[in-house]
Amino acid sequence: MPSRAPALNLKTINPAVLDVHYAVRGELALKADKYTQILADPKEKNSLPFDHVVTANIGNPQQRGLNQVPLTYWRQVISLLENPPLFEEHLDVIKQIYPEDVIERAKSLHQEIGSVGAYTHSKGVLAIRKRVAKFIEERDGFPADPESIYLTAGASAGVSSTLSIALQEGDGCMIPIPQYPLYTATLAYLNAKPIPYYLSEANDWSMDHETLLKAVEEAKKKNIPVKALVIINPGNPTGACLSHEAMEAVVRLCYEEGIVLMADEVYQTNIYDPSHRPFVSFKKVLKGMPKEIADTVELISFHSISKGVSGECGRRGGYFECVNISDEVMEQVYKMASVTLCPPVSGQVGVDLMVSPPKQGEPSYEKWKQETSLIHENLKERSYLMAEHFNKMPGVSCNPAEGAMYLFPKIQMPQKAIDEAKKRGKEADVMYALDLLDATGICAVAGSGFGQEPGTYHLRVTALCPETAEFVGRFEKFHREFMEKYK
Ligand SMILES: Cc1ncc(COP(=O)(O)O)c(C=O)c1O
Repeated sequence: MPSRAPALNLKTINPAVLDVHYAVRGELALKADKYTQILADPKEKNSLPFDHVVTANIGNPQQRGLNQVPLTYWRQVISLLENPPLFEEHLDVIKQIYPEDVIERAKSLHQEIGSVGAYTHSKGVLAIRKRVAKFIEERDGFPADPESIYLTAGASAGVSSTLSIALQEGDGCMIPIPQYPLYTATLAYLNAKPIPYYLSEANDWSMDHETLLKAVEEAKKKNIPVKALVIINPGNPTGACLSHEAMEAVVRLCYEEGIVLMADEVYQTNIYDPSHRPFVSFKKVLKGMPKEIADTVELISFHSISKGVSGECGRRGGYFECVNISDEVMEQVYKMASVTLCPPVSGQVGVDLMVSPPKQGEPSYEKWKQETSLIHENLKERSYLMAEHFNKMPGVSCNPAEGAMYLFPKIQMPQKAIDEAKKRGKEADVMYALDLLDATGICAVAGSGFGQEPGTYHLRVTALCPETAEFVGRFEKFHREFMEKYK
């Protein structure tokens, strides 16, 4: 028995922690983990009505069960970097296994970085930041400064560090509804105020100047100073890709209201039909606007190696670029980055491989092209197939996604189901998601975890499962039974 009460308990820890919610890894994910363990036990595996859990709850492509194969080029370069004696002492052997461009890339990265076990510059390795700047310049047609680029441990680390620098307690931060819960969680932790602006489901999950302005006016009425606006494009959980017009409306609002724009662009490579709706960055939109706007609006944009075609979630790599942020604040950004020493070097290398893949004509190019095209095709095919099936289910409607990795179908929830959920002390879509998991092993997150228009119910489903055709069949069977039960 301890001789005294623990110094740490729920009354003594930082109260802001208790306000943090993160639906993607909540009760549902824990239950799914439990089912996975049960199914792994030969004695118990027949105790469940399904033989495997389908993890459609998290955009983690290489996760067991989803099994996206890592890009060969990435893993080859990384393996050499991790073990330089392979090319320093055993070059003849390595040349028989790895293409020449892989060996050259590993050698030059090794020259630039040194040991991957050493701290780097707090912003990340300069040579890598220079290649990130070049990537941004080629993407947007506007200059980028390597000194304004910070490599990070995934986009999450960039988001939380920049928000924590930008926001004072009580400041307002506009967030889209629905949104990725990193934002509400970070704002809760910082004691800042989320100012929701609703994306219009009827209008492909877009928004307009009027909606945004209304949200700002509402905040002003409550004396909340609106400091920042977060936008996710392509959207999570919506899968929508914004039009140029909608993006300009966001930038204009930020200009008029003196708001910092935080653009989460981690899904920029995940675009299903670039000829219809290509990815355009907020940097490009901003820099294409009249000079007074282009040189004024403060923009921080985020990218990641977790998504796109690499799907290297566990490696923790990403970057943010600061545009029009004052020198004095940039000094503070640098100081705060120094406090955590440096981003993981393996993640920095990932960023380098993302922004500078093999070029046409190089030995690794064809394989890289084949592998990345297959990943794009699979995602697109599954997403379209799922949307088609959802739209055939009674009481379900689903906007087809234009990108990212998700669908966000709307469920016309029967009143009896809403009443039953209330009895169980849950939101109706949470009850639906838990019942779906119990009956089928499919793990999908309830829309309430992302925010949704009051009175509407959604589910977020990833488009990453290899056995999509089979799983939508199981899903549909459950759905029909659920609707019948509560009709
Ligand atoms: C919109 C959005 N932003 C940021 C992240 C976090 O990405 P990272 O793994 O780079 O931290 C995610 C992860 O799913 C996301 O969906």
